[in-house]
Amino acid sequence: MAIDWSRLNIDPVALQAQIDQLGEVGAGPEGLYRPVYGEAWIEAMDLLDGWFADAGLVRRRDPMGSLIGRVEGTAPERVVLVGSHVDTVRMGGRYDGALGVLAGLASVRALLSAFGPPRKTLEVIGLCEEEGSRFPAPFWGSRGICGRIGRDEADLLLDGEGVSIGEAMRAVGLTPERIPDAKRHDIDAFFELHIEQGPVLENEHVDLGIPHTITGLRQIRVTVSGRQDHAGTTPMDLRLDPVVATADMIGRIAAAARTRGRPAVATIGFIGVLPGAVNVVAQEVSFTVDTRHSDADLRRRLIADIEQTVDEVGRLHGVKTEITILTDHEPVPLDDSLRSVLRDAATEESLSYLEIASGAGHDSQVFAQHVPTAMVFVPSQSGRSHTPEEHTPIEQVIPGIRTLSRALHHLAYAK
Ligand code: HGY
Ligand code: MN
Ligand code: MN
Repeated sequence: MAIDWSRLNIDPVALQAQIDQLGEVGAGPEGLYRPVYGEAWIEAMDLLDGWFADAGLVRRRDPMGSLIGRVEGTAPERVVLVGSHVDTVRMGGRYDGALGVLAGLASVRALLSAFGPPRKTLEVIGLCEEEGSRFPAPFWGSRGICGRIGRDEADLLLDGEGVSIGEAMRAVGLTPERIPDAKRHDIDAFFELHIEQGPVLENEHVDLGIPHTITGLRQIRVTVSGRQDHAGTTPMDLRLDPVVATADMIGRIAAAARTRGRPAVATIGFIGVLPGAVNVVAQEVSFTVDTRHSDADLRRRLIADIEQTVDEVGRLHGVKTEITILTDHEPVPLDDSLRSVLRDAATEESLSYLEIASGAGHDSQVFAQHVPTAMVFVPSQSGRSHTPEEHTPIEQVIPGIRTLSRALHHLAYAK
């Protein structure tokens, strides 16, 4: 029997209002920042909880602190999960993550009102922590659900003030000892709508992206230790200056990625100098390198090249170097059959789409190793993201949600 998709109603005005209201939570003079388990994060989760309730979802918080809204199916034991993350990077934008949660909510609400209760249970999730911007713990919420959190991570992962992620969990009423209980076995599929965070869809004038792969990423911290000296009396040829060594390393690290061509990237996001005084030759420099490639072998080679450069240039400058791996994820393919459902859905909505590799990391790359997983990208204006300028016009968001809704219907109603 043909489905009357004209009954699916996604209200652009209401959705834009939610994007804007959620986008104000954690907003400050320097842009948006919602670190996990912090004040703004608590406020955002509570705001979403109210909207989940308004949509008729039964809500709960999982042991990681992620918010889940459930619509019981007539055959309730199996779950089709949809959502994204609520936390943001520092000086972030109001679409990265948040749009995927609000899109999942809008989609499930519209499906419920158009077609009644699903056969399989539908759940919308606001994942507690994807960015790893407060703790070095990217994909914290999704790793919890997939049983991928190491036993002592809750105590070892510290924020800039030395607070462990376990203490931060306790401070908001969570129990780190219950992290193993977050693991789930009832999820049949995970969908995530996300902004592309790059320029491809806009440059190609395409409505949607259907990623086939999520890039592999390794994030490391490099510590370069030299000898602290007086800036005025120490001759240049007698110094063991970690800043000069670091500058040499950074130039070569960027060249290692640039000479390999797209999609190889290497980013120095943070540099810290100790003691950081104008008239002191530094004792120590620490900096981070975020290296990515969507091809597993080429990623391995780029990482090896970068880490060898750190070692060799350190020796050249007579300074000591140490590399700490903060996170390491291989590139992950997304589910072929779910991608074909999305391609059909986009076609039925008369939308153009491109199948691309995601240069951004996502919770989907964790889920995809455990359950069938697929993503829908909507364009990012001027390709900008991880900045307060992040924006997607609502008329470019709605087609993504309609496509997502058709895919959710295929998985949760039709089968
Ligand atoms: O870093 C990323 O690609 C993602 O935004 N966490
Ligand atoms: Mn992000
Ligand atoms: Mn994101």
